[in-house]
Amino acid sequence: MARPAAPRVLVLHGPNLNLLGAREPAVYGRTTLAQIDRQIQRHASSRGAEAVCRQSNHEGELVDWVQGAAREGFRAIVMNPGAFTHYSLALRDAVAAVSLPVVEVHLSNVHGREEFRRQSVIAGVARGQIAGFGPGSYLLGVDAALQSLASGRPSRRPR
Ligand code: DQA
Repeated sequence: MARPAAPRVLVLHGPNLNLLGAREPAVYGRTTLAQIDRQIQRHASSRGAEAVCRQSNHEGELVDWVQGAAREGFRAIVMNPGAFTHYSLALRDAVAAVSLPVVEVHLSNVHGREEFRRQSVIAGVARGQIAGFGPGSYLLGVDAALQSLASGRPSRRPR
């Protein structure tokens, strides 16, 4: 029997994450986005999955990618929405509208920083949130997304 295809996970990076490595290194570290993407891809393939990573500084482009993910054959999304986390109702609505699991991740521990970073408008409609482990947050996010698929639980708790 043919082996089932490796689940494809879409990893989305929001605004300013293209500057990683140079941007506020005391907060975000010195690892570049390209290096993080390679770590994510290696990690996903060690788990029998495939990760495709994209970055955008534009809210609408992120919304389009979330909306189109299932159509493109992705089974789950891992997303660091950057500053959009804290106020993008358009991104929240896109996450709420899709049925595949979405895991929100952050490099920094947003809960230990400025007050405005403690609120996520996305987290309530995501499968869950992982924050504070640097690039490791993405790897944990991939694991959480794959675990959601394996458990067959709904993308988020029914309300
Ligand atoms: C971030 C935290 C956000 O508050 C910030 O706007 C970012 C990065 C993180 O990964 O820690 O751009 O999402």
